Amino acid sequence: MKDSGIDVSSEDVNVATETNEISNAPNDGTTRRDFLTLTASAVGVVGVCVVALPFIKSMNPAADVLAQASIDVPLKDIAEGTGKVVMWRGKPVFIRHRTKDEIQRVQKIALRELKDPQTDQERFSKNSAWLVVVGVCTHLGCVPNERRGMQAGDAKGGWLCACHGSVYDESGRIVTGPAPTNLEVPPYQFMNNGAVLRIG
Ligand code: FES
Repeated sequence: MKDSGIDVSSEDVNVATETNEISNAPNDGTTRRDFLTLTASAVGVVGVCVVALPFIKSMNPAADVLAQASIDVPLKDIAEGTGKVVMWRGKPVFIRHRTKDEIQRVQKIALRELKDPQTDQERFSKNSAWLVVVGVCTHLGCVPNERRGMQAGDAKGGWLCACHGSVYDESGRIVTGPAPTNLEVPPYQFMNNGAVLRIG
């Protein structure tokens, strides 16, 4: 081989030209850029997930909060004509073992007399003897007091919210005052053949 500079440089020129064509080919360049972009994006997404996972986990309710999602209340110690207040999800819940007289009284009240018409049967269809309501006034959130035993006038039972004078009947329905709606009936069910009330 004649080591002339011409032959060598000619091959070099050819190789260089091919290399140049390969490196400058627009489609291949775009593909490489796309690949790099996708790779970087995928790495970024994985990174965000790794960082965010502990944060998302920390937003799940703690075990003690979950434990209070529902509470079980034994009913055997709540005699007819008496009641009990329990705490559920940070709110008082009034439980009352109503007498036949109480039930008859509320069932006689005409719906047209009520601001938030709802029959007592609708509210406590599972067992009318047991009233279960969230003890938070639907006006501005005070806790009403039981009217039973109050000396004033027509206090026959139910609850009075002293904050602004809302009166609830023995079904927890708003009778007078600024509260717009009845006391809320929480989700509940009877367990163990009616021996336990599960709220929540
Ligand atoms: S908060 Fe009960 S009447 Fe206003």
